[in-house]
Amino acid sequence: MRREAAPVIPTLDPNSLARFVDPLPLPVVVRPQGERAVPGKSGERVPFYRVSMRAIASKLHRDLPPTKLWSYGGSVPGVTFETQSGKGLLVEWVNELPTEHFLPIDHSLHGAERGTPDVRGIVHLHGGKTPPDSDGYPEDWYVPGQSRTYYYPNQQDPALLWYHDHAMGINRLNVYAGLLGLHVIRDQAEQQLQLPGGKYEVPLVLFDRHLRPDGQLSYPVSADSDHPWISEMLGEVPLVNGKIFPYLEVEPRKYRFRVLNGANGRFYRLSLPQGVEVHQIGTDQGLLPAPVAVTHLQLAPAERADLVIDFAPHRGTRIVLSDDAFTLMEFRVSAAPVSDPSALPATLRSVPRIAESTAVQTRWLTLDEQLKGVAQSMRMLLNKTPWHMPITEKPVLNTTEIWELVNLTDDVHPIHLHLVRFQILDRRRFDAFQYMSTGTLRYTEPARLPDPNEMGWKDTARVNGQTVTRIIVPFEGYAGRYVWHCHNLEHEDNEMMRPYEVLVAGGTARNGA
Ligand code: C2O
Ligand code: CU
Repeated sequence: MRREAAPVIPTLDPNSLARFVDPLPLPVVVRPQGERAVPGKSGERVPFYRVSMRAIASKLHRDLPPTKLWSYGGSVPGVTFETQSGKGLLVEWVNELPTEHFLPIDHSLHGAERGTPDVRGIVHLHGGKTPPDSDGYPEDWYVPGQSRTYYYPNQQDPALLWYHDHAMGINRLNVYAGLLGLHVIRDQAEQQLQLPGGKYEVPLVLFDRHLRPDGQLSYPVSADSDHPWISEMLGEVPLVNGKIFPYLEVEPRKYRFRVLNGANGRFYRLSLPQGVEVHQIGTDQGLLPAPVAVTHLQLAPAERADLVIDFAPHRGTRIVLSDDAFTLMEFRVSAAPVSDPSALPATLRSVPRIAESTAVQTRWLTLDEQLKGVAQSMRMLLNKTPWHMPITEKPVLNTTEIWELVNLTDDVHPIHLHLVRFQILDRRRFDAFQYMSTGTLRYTEPARLPDPNEMGWKDTARVNGQTVTRIIVPFEGYAGRYVWHCHNLEHEDNEMMRPYEVLVAGGTARNGA
């Protein structure tokens, strides 16, 4: 088989850019436009927001011309929602995007066939316990000029959620273009912990991109012009809150950082110089039971980490946050001492481990990769089943299940389930070659417990190569149709996503909202 070389697109070398010349931008908190009644819930009035998806131009670095991006509400990351646990909200998501896409669509992917509008959007609140008709089902996309109003009940624990595009077949391109933002849920109990707050609480949204020398986004393509899809998007240019190599001026005291890996496919491994103490206090779905000291922080796409860093011992110094592959940003600690009334409590909240005996069903679900030729990835699958096949996973509302995620590939796949939060039980390596050739499972090591900083509630789990990762999932909230998928967006767009349906006990699914 002849393989052409992938077209060479000239890219910007980030090392040609001056470091730490732009202050870290902070996404603006969006204000409601009054209150509205929740449809179907007579009497309940909640804050109403209107956020539009639209093209913008944004300076990613002092020395680059503005870059064309797509945004929610005017910036990338988009506007931030500041919300309270138990207090719902309505958001009208308006598609005001241009009618032409500026990134290379692969029309051979399911859902992106020729004839489908190039520009389509649909918003999903990642980590939200959301009724199915507001969850952003990938096929429910809509085109420029249209909008949808979604209801987010927020009946869930405080956490850093994020919203992003989920349109079938072009999700990776839409998110890459900039369609992502934060949604913070808070409550009284968290407030009482006296964690660093206000201007001492800072979101850090990480993603990477390829840029052309003129600063415009470029998205790589394969050698096959009929199938431009690539299996992995790793950019050369690291951004934090949409800036390249920003700096943040901090006082010598404790700060809370809400970190999101918003990259398409990059796994970060973050570190600070020796001697700078970092405590992780929370994960995807809120606070951990107790702070965990971390030296290197792994974050897969879509994972979040809540960190406390104390700059008090580092007055007057500059501290660089890096990843194994990148320099990310600089903290500039001011010299004069300050008082710090904030706390880092020894315990944060109780997160009881779910007993395996409570599970009513255990599902064996494989993660598969289909190759074309020796090493060229053709598509990824969950349980060897493409998206359009009938729904096979139908948990019953208010029951608990164990999902055994059996990774037959060599790659780590971050697996995410909509609607629910879960706990990681364990991970165990097995002989994948033997399993694929004979069907017999042979574990090659004892099961390993999750890392200490994974012992909270999660909604995305790293499923390592040739490893069975077991998660335990209480299906709570709503009956109806949802999805689960790999959060490597290139994989997700090429079949590594499946619908699942939550059933009401003893009946068929209906909207439980
Ligand atoms: Cu970040 Cu289907 O989600
Ligand atoms: Cu994957």
